[in-house]
Amino acid sequence: MSGSELDRALDLIVEIPDFPEPGVLFRDLTPLFGDAKAFARVIEALGEEVGDGVDRLAAVEARGFVLAAALGYARGLGVALVRKPGKLPDVAGRVDYALEYGTATLELPTGSVREGERVAIVDDVLATGGTVAATAELLRSAGAVVTGVSVVLELESLNGRSLLGAVPVHALRAV
Ligand code: PRP
Repeated sequence: MSGSELDRALDLIVEIPDFPEPGVLFRDLTPLFGDAKAFARVIEALGEEVGDGVDRLAAVEARGFVLAAALGYARGLGVALVRKPGKLPDVAGRVDYALEYGTATLELPTGSVREGERVAIVDDVLATGGTVAATAELLRSAGAVVTGVSVVLELESLNGRSLLGAVPVHALRAV
């Protein structure tokens, strides 16, 4: 894969000012997901970042699911599907956390991971880090080992990495 193909794919990410609130610059991956070639390049690149020695992926509803489903299929890995609240009949854990805009809650379905499993988290954007930090907390509470976080885009100024301690963070692009 050439770097320029990946750059072209990442260039499809759109910046939308003042969404969902004034002062927030929203990053929209919709055009990237909609372009077959670009999507394939990004999945390939994320696969390289996730590396070996991983038993399972974990992702957060909704955009994280799209990436993790494709990557899990490509790599032969199952996916733990971390949900927004009220969707699950039976939860292994629930975490409240702060977002760049507001607060949120995530829930892990019972039976999503096994004790000692090595799990890599995949998401589209790392902003404040609240979402992946909450996901890591849920996974660890269920007995998993979090091996790393792989995202398409990292918003460096929000320093989301600081919430993740020693967990390695890989971003295809940092802005
Ligand atoms: C977005 C994005 C990440 C999260 C990053 O999700 O998909 O999961 O925010 O923000 P953070 O690092 O500050 O936690 P959003 O809740 O907007 O959900 P969506 O995927 O359903 O659009």
